[in-house]
Amino acid sequence: MKNFTSIKLIFLLLIATGLSACNAQGKRNSQTGSGNASSDFSPDIEIELTAQPVAMQLLDGPKTNVFHYEARLLKGSDSNLSEIQGSYLGPIIRVKHGQKIRVIFKNNLPRESIIHWHGLHIPPEMDGHPMHAVDNGEQYVYEFTVVDRPGTYWFHPHPDKITGPQVYRGLAGLFIIEDERKSLPSGDQDQPLVIQDRSFNSDNQLVYVEGSPMQRMQGFLGNQIFINGKKELTQNVKKGTYRLRILNGSNARIYKLAWSDGSDLKVIATDGGLLEKPLNKPYLILAPGERVEIWKDFSATNSGEEITLESLAFSSGTSMGRMGSGGMMGNMGGGMMGGNASFENGEAMHLYTFNVTGEEGKSLGIPQTLSEIEEIDPVNAVNYDTPKQFHFYHERMNWVINGETFDMEEVADWEKVKLNTTEVWQFINGDDGSGMGMMQDMMQLPHPAHIHGLQFQIIERDISGMDAEVWNSVKDGFINQGWQDTFLLMPGMKVKVVMRFRDFTGKYIYHCHNLEHEDMGMMRNYEVLP
Ligand code: C2O
Ligand code: CU
Ligand code: CU
Repeated sequence: MKNFTSIKLIFLLLIATGLSACNAQGKRNSQTGSGNASSDFSPDIEIELTAQPVAMQLLDGPKTNVFHYEARLLKGSDSNLSEIQGSYLGPIIRVKHGQKIRVIFKNNLPRESIIHWHGLHIPPEMDGHPMHAVDNGEQYVYEFTVVDRPGTYWFHPHPDKITGPQVYRGLAGLFIIEDERKSLPSGDQDQPLVIQDRSFNSDNQLVYVEGSPMQRMQGFLGNQIFINGKKELTQNVKKGTYRLRILNGSNARIYKLAWSDGSDLKVIATDGGLLEKPLNKPYLILAPGERVEIWKDFSATNSGEEITLESLAFSSGTSMGRMGSGGMMGNMGGGMMGGNASFENGEAMHLYTFNVTGEEGKSLGIPQTLSEIEEIDPVNAVNYDTPKQFHFYHERMNWVINGETFDMEEVADWEKVKLNTTEVWQFINGDDGSGMGMMQDMMQLPHPAHIHGLQFQIIERDISGMDAEVWNSVKDGFINQGWQDTFLLMPGMKVKVVMRFRDFTGKYIYHCHNLEHEDMGMMRNYEVLP
């Protein structure tokens, strides 16, 4: 009887899923701009990206089950698409400003998915809003023109509530808009460094946060660093000058980047491309989703010497309330990690070591002018005197923005903007003082804030509400210059950004790029109205 019922159930489920898949397929195919390529768009580059489960040899012993973006170049040149051998990461897509791109995304994952092009200024239908997610067996076609500045962008899944686990399993890739500058390192001296943290069980399978509410609240923190989707954490380099394109592709871990030889980090670019001039930093805070480009010259380093990119210890300002740090978190950390591996955000760790060989590479002097940046004057903002305020905080076991969580379609009045206007938005880590007051303040975490569809400029970082010890441990690591799409909002911090809404109308999202927070609903729509 029991058996019969479950067989019947499975049978019914099969029919039901089959039917709904057909329906969805039919509907998608009849819409332009989603399931089909359009005939009036002639791309310079066409790529098929298939997301699918595969088993990969990442560690010694059993293979690891991951999700992988399998890429096929349908149109373009070999330089447009490159794979990182042995990596779970997707391909590196290299394009030029002005090129027309078509990407056919095929979903062979067990769950729905959609690709988001992080940092790009493209129409809402091309941006990977969760409302456009497609089911297993379906496809979504992207067609857009690259209008952004040369720089290091990236792509990753964006389905509602399950972005964290899909990125964690390996779905992410770099999208590089190349510059024509001859004075910057190129070829194998221009290289990516995608930093991620992962945890594995004894069968070499990835361990995520399932079944641990406190870990989910905090965001996933792994005990092992992966660079460019591989566990090898060393690399030989020539005596020459390197351009390192660093992406923090971690779900929730924040890094305090520094060189082991004590030299400054020479920053040449942020999220939205080259700065006006290089910036020297003793260390750099890099939050999930953020990119930074570093100039590193190994020309004068002795052969055989090793220089390591470290993450230094810092205080993240995390407070998980009375049930938090000491008790539950402590136990969990110990249980999961064992040995000397670390769990908390802010632990020191080695990230990646460069072994300087005897081989001569190309040496370059750092240009004192890198690019021109057109400043947006905040005085021209329609709301200069009354910036929109976005409070990121915790409320009743939820991460919220102004008390709200994500709704697929909903846009509040304070989330509506007008095309061709400039606005100032202020992001605040902490509640607005009304409501449950003290109770809410018990849980505080850093939140990397990210806005889709555009690049903005940071005009103010107010630290008056921050804990002094926390601020002192990170204060030299922030960049306010250049174009950005993601910035770290430390507990108590208030950040004002200015942006212009151009070219496209419709709904985009903004959210916390701690992917577990995003999945819990710390995400909202904003709408550009005509
Ligand atoms: Cu990396 Cu919603 O984005
Ligand atoms: Cu994004
Ligand atoms: Cu957050």
